[in-house]
Amino acid sequence: MPELIKAICIGAGSRGIDAYGYYALKNPKRLKFIGVAEPRKEWREKFIRLHKIPKENVFNSYEELFAKEQFARAAVICTPDQMHVEPTILALERGYDVLLEKPMANTLEGCLKLVRKAEEVKKHLQICHVLRYTNFWSTIKSFIDSGQLGDIITISHRENVSYWHMAHSFVRGNWRNSDITSPMILAKCCHDMDLLYWIIGKKPISISSFGSLSFYRPESAPPGAPLRCTDGCPVGDTCMFNAIKIYIDLDGYYNMGKNCPSRAFRFFSHHRNAIRHMSHIIRPLKRLVDFKEWPVNTITSDLTLEGKMKALREGPYGRCVFHCDNNVVDHQQTLIEFSNGVTAELTMHGHSALEGRSIRIDGTKGTLIGSFMGWDDLYFIESQNGEKRQLIKPKITIEAHGGGDLKLTEGFVNSLQPDYKLVPLTDARAALESHLMAFAAEKARLEKKVIDMEEFHSLI
Ligand SMILES: NC(=O)c1ccc[n+]([C@@H]2O[C@H](COP(=O)([O-])OP(=O)(O)OC[C@H]3O[C@@H](n4cnc5c(N)ncnc54)[C@H](O)[C@@H]3O)[C@@H](O)[C@H]2O)c1
Repeated sequence: MPELIKAICIGAGSRGIDAYGYYALKNPKRLKFIGVAEPRKEWREKFIRLHKIPKENVFNSYEELFAKEQFARAAVICTPDQMHVEPTILALERGYDVLLEKPMANTLEGCLKLVRKAEEVKKHLQICHVLRYTNFWSTIKSFIDSGQLGDIITISHRENVSYWHMAHSFVRGNWRNSDITSPMILAKCCHDMDLLYWIIGKKPISISSFGSLSFYRPESAPPGAPLRCTDGCPVGDTCMFNAIKIYIDLDGYYNMGKNCPSRAFRFFSHHRNAIRHMSHIIRPLKRLVDFKEWPVNTITSDLTLEGKMKALREGPYGRCVFHCDNNVVDHQQTLIEFSNGVTAELTMHGHSALEGRSIRIDGTKGTLIGSFMGWDDLYFIESQNGEKRQLIKPKITIEAHGGGDLKLTEGFVNSLQPDYKLVPLTDARAALESHLMAFAAEKARLEKKVIDMEEFHSLI
């Protein structure tokens, strides 16, 4: 019988509640939250209610919580990017095993400090590189390790951020300004760097990168556009960034559904009113009509229509995308050479009609092509005979991050069992490489030069 792991949640925001809190609620015999530190009242109260946290274990901040002696086995740390180092050091020093959100830190020094501290106190420090735990990416990894692709020669990897996700997170939202949080290549693409490093299995030796913020800026604003979408914008009806279309009408999701291989999804996406009517009979459809999930649930905790409209009138998510205080790039292309001669290109852009990642890997025995865009599809074409083999059955994934959130949390819980002997898949030492790659790519972009990774590896 596996041991129940008792944990505290530091930062009960979107990830704390929807990813790790959700796992605990679904798996009450594996993980139980018994404490929380969260400054925002509504979010704190939601977490307390969902997990029945005793009053004495509720805190307004991690500083207050860590002033107390250790009272759980594990700490799940989901504070904003710029607030990862201090709570993690405190948690490790107090004796907690830690599951920390990515990026582990928004500075190179912070990352190194965390890895060293975890090794010094001999505690688990695992980073939430959830994609390693998905069926899609782990199938690619095991296919390559099996030798069927031969030696990898090149990889072309794309992180296609949809226009509405870009607007939500990187123009209006938390990761819009690198002076406050992280550069885009770290915030969004440390996952991609991690996948490349994991799949190739060798260290990078040089990196170059180009990119800029070309579109989401004041010069692109339509004439007469006010500062907020709710202030009577003259192009409100036709602007795809209109916050009301994104958060109330859910245009982004419906547009994705129109291109979905599933006939049912396509039907509903073309017939919104049909969903509304049918939701009275088919109860699960109510979730679509009265949508309360990401990204809508990040704009306010009052998910009534009035609550959402108030958030758009007053909060950051109702701002015109051309009039925000954003500075992170909306496109960046990075070229990486690995120590075994493999070259990889990573394209990130925030202008995609569809959301998700896609990859093509060419090896000495054939080509592997995959799409991880809400409906997974992965196949291999063997060069010698031209035969195409489907490696995973194309299917729709509605679980967050293709099921990676739940599996990663389970992996963390498993790794804390007394008989666990392996190095965890997303151990901080392994995760460090992707962060070094992101810092190097950003330096390459800003300084317009090729970075020799020895400059970064020599610091480890
Ligand atoms: N693994 C992934 O794929 C993935 C996906 C999205 C976000 N993230 C990362 O997860 C982290 C959290 O993101 P989020 O979307 O949940 O953001 P969020 O803003 O919803 O949550 C962060 C929470 O930390 C709280 N906080 C602030 N100061 C605090 C303090 N002193 N003590 C305790 N809590 C404090 C905030 O009030 C907030 O509720 C970020 O680092 C983000 O980059 C990872």
